Amino acid sequence: MDGNGRWAKAKGLQRKEGHREGSNAIDRLLDIALTLGLKNISLYAFSTENWKRPPSEITSIFSLLDEFIDNKLGRLQEKNVRVWHSGSTKRVPRSSVRKIDKAVQETKGNSALNLNFCLNYGSMDEITHAVNKILSSRKEKGKALDKAIKPSDIEKNLYTYPLPPVDLLIRTAGEQRLSNFLLWQSAYAEIYFTDVLWPDFDKQCLFSSLEWYAKRVRKFGGLASS
Ligand code: FPP
Repeated sequence: MDGNGRWAKAKGLQRKEGHREGSNAIDRLLDIALTLGLKNISLYAFSTENWKRPPSEITSIFSLLDEFIDNKLGRLQEKNVRVWHSGSTKRVPRSSVRKIDKAVQETKGNSALNLNFCLNYGSMDEITHAVNKILSSRKEKGKALDKAIKPSDIEKNLYTYPLPPVDLLIRTAGEQRLSNFLLWQSAYAEIYFTDVLWPDFDKQCLFSSLEWYAKRVRKFGGLASS
């Protein structure tokens, strides 16, 4: 959700106001996503590298997340949205961990849309964590530690499991890199780059990205079907 800071700066506002408008953009897009019947959305809300930001900005991002859950959980329930969290809980403020856990638990039975908050998330951390989990589980069960690890073993231990791989990855604000986001899951994702700043990413922008996606020929390493 890039461009919150630039959006604020362009308006002479503080960066936290940009994040607030970014959070409003999520809210607006959720309704559209539900109407369109999208099944899975992952939001890169806070990366493992975002800890490098000033403490006041970090605090404002977690406060916005807390506020979002406090204000929207009821509506997410009504709309049959299931909340997920991907990422490590280490260093995340306890209040935010409690709130996201509550949202995850309370929406477990919902099935219209999976809304995955990638929070304190980074793919390098995720894959390392997955490998370490496999090794500790083998150790616990007295199994051989030197048996080869298979891609499916890693997949089952990713933070995002059992959510499906990414079809369309949208990167806003003119950035053209993946920034440690869902690297494993995006192995065959179509990547849509737009100059639009995240707070300005509206219904029309979502439609444009989906229209672009619909024209992509997906081969997954095979040949295009005729
Ligand atoms: C990237 O833009 C954005 C973030 C690191 C934070 C995104 C967080 C929110 C939208 C609020 C969290 C709330 C919920 C509900 C998940 P940037 O700050 O890097 O912008 P810039 O590149 O213009 O400086």
